[in-house]
Amino acid sequence: MTPQDMADTHAAAFTRSRPWSTEEFADLVANRFTYTLGDKRSFALIQVISDEAELLTIATHPDYQRQGLARRVMTGWHAKAQHLGASRAFLEVASDNRPAVALYQSCGYTPCGRRKAYYHREIGPNVDAIVMECHLSGK
Ligand SMILES: CC(C)(COP(=O)(O)OP(=O)(O)OC[C@H]1O[C@@H](n2cnc3c(N)ncnc32)[C@H](O)[C@@H]1OP(=O)(O)O)[C@@H](O)C(=O)NCCC(=O)NCCS
Repeated sequence: MTPQDMADTHAAAFTRSRPWSTEEFADLVANRFTYTLGDKRSFALIQVISDEAELLTIATHPDYQRQGLARRVMTGWHAKAQHLGASRAFLEVASDNRPAVALYQSCGYTPCGRRKAYYHREIGPNVDAIVMECHLSGK
C-alpha cells in the first residue's frame, strides 16, 4: 500500500473526524517503529516499541465493511507485534464510535483509561477517548 492508498481509504472511512493526509501517512510509514498491515480495502498502521504495541489507526473502506476484514487485520497485527516482541497492545477510541469499540472488545481489549473531551467533532461537543489494552501473550 502507498501512503496515497492509505489516505484514500482513511478519508472514505472516517466521516466524523479529520482524515489523515498522504503526507502524514508518508511520515508515519517512514518511521522505523511503524508497520502497515492489510490492503486498500482494510488496513492498520501500528507502532511497536520494545514490549508495547499501539494501534495508530485502522480503517475499512465503506464498500467492504462488515465482512470481517478489520478483525482479520487485527489478528494479523497482533501476530506481527508478538513476533517483534510485544506482549501488550494499546489503542484509543472515541467513546461514541460503537463499531470500533465493538470490534476491539471482540478482539479482547478492555478499557484502561479515559481522556476527557479528547476528540474534536465538527458538530456537537468534543468526545472522550477510551484507552484500551490487550495482553498479547498467550492469545
Ligand atoms: C471500525 C471498522 C474498522 C470496522 O471494520 P470492518 O471491516 O467493518 O469490521 P469487521 O467486519 O471485521 O467486524 C468485526 C466486528 O466488529 C464489530 N463491528 C464492526 N462494525 C460494526 C458496526 N457497524 N456496528 C456494530 N459492531 C460492528 C462487530 O463486533 C463485528 O463482528 P460481527 O460482524 O461478527 O458482528 C470500520 O467500521 C471503520 O473503518 N470505521 C471508520 C474508521 C474507524 O472508526 N476506525 C477506528 C478508529 S479507533
